[in-house]
Amino acid sequence: MPDNKKLHSVAALFNSVDEIISAAKKTTAAGYKKFDVNTPYPVHGMDRAMGMGQSKIGFVTLFFGLFGAAFIFLFMWWSFAVSYNIVVGGKPFLAVPAFIPITFETTVLFAAIATVVGMLAVYFKLPNNSHPLHDTDYMKAVSGDKFGLVIEAEDKQFDKAKVIEFLKGLGAYKIEDIYYPEQEKFRMFEPKFLLFLAIVAVATSGLTYVTLNKLMYITPFDWMDFQSKLTAQKGSNMFANHEGMRPPVEGTVARGFIPYPYKGQPMPVEVLSNPTIPTKQILELGKGKFLTFCSPCHGNFGEGESRLRGQFPVGPTLHSDKIINYPDGMIYHIITNGQNAMPSYAPQITRHERWAIVDYIRVLQRAQNAKESDLKAVNKESVSNVQN
Ligand code: HEC
Repeated sequence: MPDNKKLHSVAALFNSVDEIISAAKKTTAAGYKKFDVNTPYPVHGMDRAMGMGQSKIGFVTLFFGLFGAAFIFLFMWWSFAVSYNIVVGGKPFLAVPAFIPITFETTVLFAAIATVVGMLAVYFKLPNNSHPLHDTDYMKAVSGDKFGLVIEAEDKQFDKAKVIEFLKGLGAYKIEDIYYPEQEKFRMFEPKFLLFLAIVAVATSGLTYVTLNKLMYITPFDWMDFQSKLTAQKGSNMFANHEGMRPPVEGTVARGFIPYPYKGQPMPVEVLSNPTIPTKQILELGKGKFLTFCSPCHGNFGEGESRLRGQFPVGPTLHSDKIINYPDGMIYHIITNGQNAMPSYAPQITRHERWAIVDYIRVLQRAQNAKESDLKAVNKESVSNVQN
């Protein structure tokens, strides 16, 4: 063997089970820690003879099992409660009993995959995918009818001459040096190997397609393009009125929608009171919504300077005494319900935003019709500001 190769271990071959068991016991007793035994079939009592403790791989399994459970549990909660925010079958968002099967499955899945990958990583030292023992005469013998023991060069008390002497003393019939391969035989990320995988993938899918679709006339998976289902607006003979879509049950309301009790009535029976406090924030909101939804017909300042003149009846001024003297609830009612030519804006503007618009209209009105006291108040403030 050339000297520039790195020694992995010294391997010894034995003829019988009894020999290998006693060899393992003696090797343990001699204080060797890094050694391994290879047998053609599982030999009972071998782990004890080798003085082996429990495998650490169990911790990998435990960790990833728990991780899988926690991950999927939170994921389910997240999808119901946060992402979709939909009540399914009347269950609470954190429906523990319903979550159990999936949590169990995912625990097993994560634990199993992590165990396999963990073993490959630990024993093969990924991305290596082979072991120095592979492809040796020793391995051929122990996968036939022989029993083998290797003492690794990494062992603290490894001394090649002594180890060979020791193994001979155990009764080995053949002793062999095992070297690390100069270069990994089948490197995992070898471009040729990846190219090979890609070619296999394309060839497999192509062949499957041709066989199913062209030779056997079975459609391959059609991505659910064709389904026996009723799409929106489609007719159906199943129902007496031949309509596929079913009307919602009487009294159904959309989520978050509170029906307006004065719909279609000229004037609210009770006076609606404005629940907002006209803070700067509310007025900013009201201004934004007013400019978007009201200004096209009523003008930017509510004076009736419509931008849709000629296309739509001009919205009247909002500075008339009539509107100034309307209670807030009446303006709210007009936005919500519409009035004659003016349509309802309830679908576009939330209740809160409607009240904010009312507040903003009050600001516009006051700006056009400031009272003496308003001016004084402003003056006083600005004077005191100057003094400060
Ligand atoms: C598409 C044009 C249009 C839009 C947009 C519009 N309005 Fe009107 N508005 C009208 C017309 C037209 C009238 C007059 C209806 C009538 O004949 O009673 C009216 C009437 C009103 C009245 C009653 C005026 C009165 O003298 O009786 C108020 C208050 C009012 N609108 C507020 C609003 C508010 C607030 C918005 C924004 C949410 C808005 N309007 C959006 C066209 C519009």
